[in-house]
Amino acid sequence: MSSSSKSLKIGIVGFGTFGQFLANTMIKQGHTLTATSRTDYSQLCDQMGIHFFRDITAFLDADMDVILLCTSISSLSEVVGSMPLACLKRPTLFVDVLSVKEHPKNLLLKVLPEESDILCTHPMFGPVSGKNGWQNLTFMFDKVRIKDEVTCSKFLQIFASEGCKMVEMSCEEHDKAAAKSQFITHTIGRYAASYLSFTNQRQTSN
Ligand SMILES: NC(=O)c1ccc[n+]([C@@H]2O[C@H](COP(=O)([O-])OP(=O)(O)OC[C@H]3O[C@@H](n4cnc5c(N)ncnc54)[C@H](OP(=O)(O)O)[C@@H]3O)[C@@H](O)[C@H]2O)c1
Repeated sequence: MSSSSKSLKIGIVGFGTFGQFLANTMIKQGHTLTATSRTDYSQLCDQMGIHFFRDITAFLDADMDVILLCTSISSLSEVVGSMPLACLKRPTLFVDVLSVKEHPKNLLLKVLPEESDILCTHPMFGPVSGKNGWQNLTFMFDKVRIKDEVTCSKFLQIFASEGCKMVEMSCEEHDKAAAKSQFITHTIGRYAASYLSFTNQRQTSN
């Protein structure tokens, strides 16, 4: 294990847009990355200096400090459910980045071995808002089940050291706040649409 240095061995599950986006910064910081995904990203990973595994068993066998789940919300339960978790060589920190939080928390608590740590996170930025760096962008996290504080804090440091606003809150609080803001956005959108339609009608009738 790489606990004596700052660098971590991180395995990314789901190497799509967001997985690649996070990988770029993690590589820049000196972490060692591996990846696995439904699609074959071997070529891209070769160029990025990442070991890509087509086979999930070989991926889990690679002995990582952190397994970072970057799959879509709808595929998470299928993806995690199909992992042969008995192949894990030692207690590992599982981190998810889904933009909803209660679903991954409940799923990971249900399916992961008791000795695995769980950190639920929502980096509230992406390839567009974070294209010029992560300074002042919000990173939400919930230490759902952490026994190895050293590995967890090294992982959080990836985002803190880029200047992210680190916000610790429960998954439940996160989802409540997200639902409220979606409600406000939706309501403002509806008012704006009816106002526009009202002014259009007035202009037509004048
Ligand atoms: N994009 C953002 O700005 C952003 C910000 C914060 C959090 N997130 C979170 O990051 C995660 C990934 O987001 P994304 O932007 O990369 O796009 P996405 O469409 O939400 O997810 C794409 C990823 O999911 C995998 N995937 C989709 N369906 C699958 C299935 N049936 N079986 C196995 N794998 C499947 C894809 O694998 P393949 O590529 O191998 O097909 C790809 O790695 C999401 O959970 C999202 O909530 C995204």
